[in-house]
Amino acid sequence: MTPSLNQIARLILVFAPIAAKGQASPSPTSCADGHFIGSCAYPGLRFVDHALGMYCLNDNTAVFGYNWTWLDLDKCLTNNDGKLTPSSIGDYSSSCFNCNVSYISGVHLTCDCWNMAGTNQLQASVDLNSVIYNTNGAMGCCDQLGNKTWKGPQAG
Ligand SMILES: *[C@@H]1O[C@H](CO)[C@@H](O)[C@H](O)[C@H]1NC(C)=O
Ligand SMILES: *[C@@H]1O[C@H](CO)[C@@H](O)[C@H](O)[C@H]1NC(C)=O
Ligand SMILES: *[C@@H]1O[C@H](CO)[C@@H](O)[C@H](O)[C@H]1NC(C)=O
Repeated sequence: MTPSLNQIARLILVFAPIAAKGQASPSPTSCADGHFIGSCAYPGLRFVDHALGMYCLNDNTAVFGYNWTWLDLDKCLTNNDGKLTPSSIGDYSSSCFNCNVSYISGVHLTCDCWNMAGTNQLQASVDLNSVIYNTNGAMGCCDQLGNKTWKGPQAG
């Protein structure tokens, strides 16, 4: 029996961080390894609920290949006492509201986030380029990889 794509994906997810670091110990800095901006078409981004979508270049460099990719930012960011912080704990959207993604100068997510005591909503912003990376046409963050398709939602 040949392994399913799902099994292969699991293997890649398990071994990729180890291979990249050359050692087995997990590091919290893996959540802040971004730099998608150079290889993703962020001016065409979509931000729907808490999912970010855009076209990103894949490894098929010979034909300048790209894919549409969605990443659930709830798997990337947490609300840390009113601040948006890269974390695989995630779930920022349960306590942050009025969120939007701007790309005027870099790509930033801005929200109103409850502080820990639940007494104040603070405006919080995070530079998504410091969190999100592009792997072969799929956006990812921390140990999470988003999905990808050939064409995006605007393609007819
Ligand atoms: C891709 O991920 C997004 C965001 O999590 C989700 O809304 C969408 O349903 C997923 N699409 C597919 C084809 O899995
Ligand atoms: C983005 O969200 C922040 C926080 O809710 C808000 O202050 C700002 O006006 C919003 N920007 C746009 C362009 O909607
Ligand atoms: C990604 O895009 C390539 C074209 O660049 C396409 O051949 C491939 O099927 C796409 N991948 C997925 C999962 O749709």
